[in-house]
Amino acid sequence: MKVSRVAAAGALAATVAVTLGLSASASALPTTAAAAAHHPAQNPLDRSLRDLAARAGLRIGTAVDANALATDATYARHVGDDFNMVTAENAMKWESIEPQRGVYTWEQADALVDFARTHGQLVRGHTLIWHNQNPAWLTNGTFTTEELRAILKNHIFTVLRHFKGRISAWDVANEVIDDSGQLRNTFWLQRLGPGYIADAFRWAHQADPRTVLFINDYNVEGINAKSTAYYNLVRDLRRQRVPIHGFGIQGHLDVQYGFPGDVQANIQRFARLGMKTALTEVDVRITLPVDATEGTSQAFAYSSLLTACLLERSCISYTVWGFTDKYSWVPGVFTGQGAANLLDENFAPKPAYTAVQQTLALAGAIGPRG
Ligand code: XIL
Repeated sequence: MKVSRVAAAGALAATVAVTLGLSASASALPTTAAAAAHHPAQNPLDRSLRDLAARAGLRIGTAVDANALATDATYARHVGDDFNMVTAENAMKWESIEPQRGVYTWEQADALVDFARTHGQLVRGHTLIWHNQNPAWLTNGTFTTEELRAILKNHIFTVLRHFKGRISAWDVANEVIDDSGQLRNTFWLQRLGPGYIADAFRWAHQADPRTVLFINDYNVEGINAKSTAYYNLVRDLRRQRVPIHGFGIQGHLDVQYGFPGDVQANIQRFARLGMKTALTEVDVRITLPVDATEGTSQAFAYSSLLTACLLERSCISYTVWGFTDKYSWVPGVFTGQGAANLLDENFAPKPAYTAVQQTLALAGAIGPRG
């Protein structure tokens, strides 16, 4: 057992280097057709990500843009073909799902959950408590503390009961700690006090005891002040028997800042607290225009996050935040940046896509995880 695990680690780490070599010298890459002619059943580049992930024993997901799913057939085909898990990019956020008090708009979220059922996919719910994308009636309302607590509890119960049995994991709390490691100074904290986090997890667990409840954030890939603050928070909550089950690492990276080398160690310490983990929103943005080195760095980042996840049994899924640059949130938010996804605007695979395929293929060849 020990030997094979060590071998697996070495082999997976090596695939990153292999991937880099391949993507750096595109001319050395056999064409898909030529490679397939030699090894028809073995060329990983001919397999979908979900097929490769299933062999490796990992869920691979994507955020889904509800409008694109409804209107762009090529987009929808890729969602179904390449992924075995989906997250609503916006459709389950508070402003989308309860835009007026007590008025729920389920259509887009239901359409995604139905799509997932038809395509044999699991669904990650995103998200119950966040400081962004809340409706004005909620953030501007003049509620007493008790009223606001009741509103939050009611929202959580209504949403979880609506989707009961159809959503396997929920991001209950999103981005509740800031980069310095303090509880983020949101209107939830100001109005309800720090106990709101434990309350939300307890309510979610009562509403749907079978779904895996996550706390989720960015800039927590490696070991740093923010991820350590999460570690301490999660440890304290679990000591108090709060039903918190998963640590979600968003994985919004930027090639100009390099790649943290201690992602696996970070995942490991949460696993030792008894937590599941997941990569929940992976994308790797680049300052435009993209040059070949950046394309290679991007492939390395996608593949390295995936490797860290594959090597840790606690890591149950790897989700990308969109898979095509055609619908990416990045250019609208990060000025001058983009090209963050696995496929370009025309759905053509980039080196990062090939890197993810090869990393999954190697993990699958070693054998499915426990
Ligand atoms: C983003 C969506 O991708 C955009 O379409 C939306 O305009 C803003 O939110 N962290 C999260 C996600 O948890 O919900 C965010 O999604 C990206 C950052």
